[in-house]
Amino acid sequence: MTPPKQKKLALTRNRMGWASAELNEVSVLFVEYCRTVDLPVLDIGAAFGTATLAALGTGAFVIANDLDASHLAQLEGRALEARHTQLLVKPASFPRQIHFEPATLAAVHASNVFHFLTGNQLAEGVRSIARWLHPGGKLFVNAATPYQAAFANFISEYEIRVASGVKWPGWVEKISQYSNHKKLGAMPASIHLLDDRVLSALVESVGLVVERAWLYQRGDFPKELRLDGRESLGLIAMKPVTDQPTELR
Ligand SMILES: C[S@@+](CC[C@H](N)C(=O)[O-])C[C@H]1O[C@@H](n2cnc3c(N)ncnc32)[C@H](O)[C@@H]1O
Repeated sequence: MTPPKQKKLALTRNRMGWASAELNEVSVLFVEYCRTVDLPVLDIGAAFGTATLAALGTGAFVIANDLDASHLAQLEGRALEARHTQLLVKPASFPRQIHFEPATLAAVHASNVFHFLTGNQLAEGVRSIARWLHPGGKLFVNAATPYQAAFANFISEYEIRVASGVKWPGWVEKISQYSNHKKLGAMPASIHLLDDRVLSALVESVGLVVERAWLYQRGDFPKELRLDGRESLGLIAMKPVTDQPTELR
């Protein structure tokens, strides 16, 4: 019997956008990296677990975090069905409610969650991630950019803000000021749109080295939100290996 077709995008229960049923470009690279690790990896904003389950399939130990405990309960059920036992779920708000010892994680994956954070939360979050990563460990980020059809009216304002050095140029306090796109009903009132320039600068400021930062269009991106091929941001950064003792880094 053919199994029921899984929806490409599932609406989150807390109206924090849609969770993908397929891996995006960044998540594919995260999962590949998981094949090489011998420390736990962290999936921030894991939702129903598309990336977490794929990472578990590589044999990695995965810590799955989400704001919504019911998302993680569903993820746990799916992991159990697939007989994955190397899973720890952490319902918590990143970054404030989540803590790890320094240099204890091999990788951190944050797909489609950074754009829900304010500038201060984002800065605190990447500082924490830099501390939690083991030297040589990697950060994998996918996030929303301003270059989506729903934000077309914001792009010129965004470019002016970037050119004039505004600290968080992509922070949109009230999305409804720029857009009444129907898809945005499933989003919070504010959003923090990011691009390769802004997130690279932030990540480098906490001592991580950006290996790759690029803009692209996800295969499962809704047609009505497509603009020009720059709708999603991908970023991969590494914590450098130095001779300093871990506690000083
Ligand atoms: C759009 S979904 C993305 C799910 C999945 N990572 C993906 O790429 O398809 C965003 C998820 O991030 C979670 N989230 C939002 N803000 C968060 C925060 N501050 N800490 C932890 N999880 C958060 C939401 O509950 C939601 O499940």
